[in-house]
Amino acid sequence: MMTNYQGNSSLLTLPADLDPQRLPQHVAVIMDGNGRWAQKRHLPRIMGHQQGVAALKELVRCCRDWGIPHLTCYAFSTENWGRPGLEVEFLLTLFEQVLRQELEELIREQVRLEFVGHLAALPPRLQAQIAEAVELTRHHERVWLTVATNYGGRQEIVQACQTLARRVQRGELAPEDIDETQFAQHLYTAASRDPDLLIRTSGEMRLSNFLLWQVAYAELYITDTLWPDFDRECFHQALRAFQQRQRRFGRL
Ligand code: IPE
Ligand code: IPE
Ligand code: MG
Repeated sequence: MMTNYQGNSSLLTLPADLDPQRLPQHVAVIMDGNGRWAQKRHLPRIMGHQQGVAALKELVRCCRDWGIPHLTCYAFSTENWGRPGLEVEFLLTLFEQVLRQELEELIREQVRLEFVGHLAALPPRLQAQIAEAVELTRHHERVWLTVATNYGGRQEIVQACQTLARRVQRGELAPEDIDETQFAQHLYTAASRDPDLLIRTSGEMRLSNFLLWQVAYAELYITDTLWPDFDRECFHQALRAFQQRQRRFGRL
C-alpha cells in the first residue's frame, strides 16, 4: 500500500517535537468519512471503506513504530445495521476479507487482535474468523489492536447490567458491591485502561455511541480530514495537540 508519507523518513520514527514520556497509552479512533471520501471522487462509497482499511493498517504500524501500545478503532456500530443492505453486506464481507488477507502479517508484526461488541450477532463465518485471529495473536505484545465491531456503548452498558443483575440474583454479589471498578470489569473493555485520546475524523462533533463509559476523561481531537486521508502526519498533529493539553481530571 502506498501512502504519501513514504519517502519522508522522519515520520517512520517518533517526530522530534513529541515527548516520548507523554504519549497516550491508549488511543481510540472513530474512523469516519469513508463515504464522503469516495463521493468526492465520484466513486462508490464502498471504495472509501476499502481505502479506510489501508489507513487503519498504516496507523497500526505507526503506533508500533512510535511506541503507542494500544489502539482501539470503531469499525461498525450497532446503528450501522440501519444502512442500505448492500453496504452492510459489503462491510461484513470486507471484514472477513481483511482478516483473511492480513492475519499472517499481523502475526509477523506481533499485533495482538481483540474485538469488542455484540459479536454473537455477526455472521457465523466472521465470528469464527474473529475467534481464530484472537486466539492466534493473544500472546503478542508489540501493539494491541482492538476493533469495535457491532459495538454500541449503550448496548455494552446494558449487557454489563444484565450480567451484574444475574450475579446478584445468584447471590454471588451484593448490590452495594457494585462500584465503578466492579462495573468496568463487566464491560467488553475490562482488560484495558481507558483511552487517553479519542480521535474522530471527518469533522463530526459527536461520539456516535462509542465507548461512552470509557471516554469519561479522554482528550477529544476532531479533525476535518476524512478517514482514508488520515496518515502519519495527521496522527502526529493529533499527538501534538494531546501533548499541549492539560489534563486535570476535575482537580486544579
Ligand atoms: C465510516 O465512514 C465507516 C463506517 C461507519 C463503517 P462512513 O461510511 O460513515 O463515511 P461517511 O460518514 O458517510 O462519509
Ligand atoms: C460512527 O460513524 C461509526 C463508525 C465509524 C464505525 P457513523 O458515520 O456511523 O456515525 P454518524 O451516523 O455520523 O453519527
Ligand atoms: Mg459516517
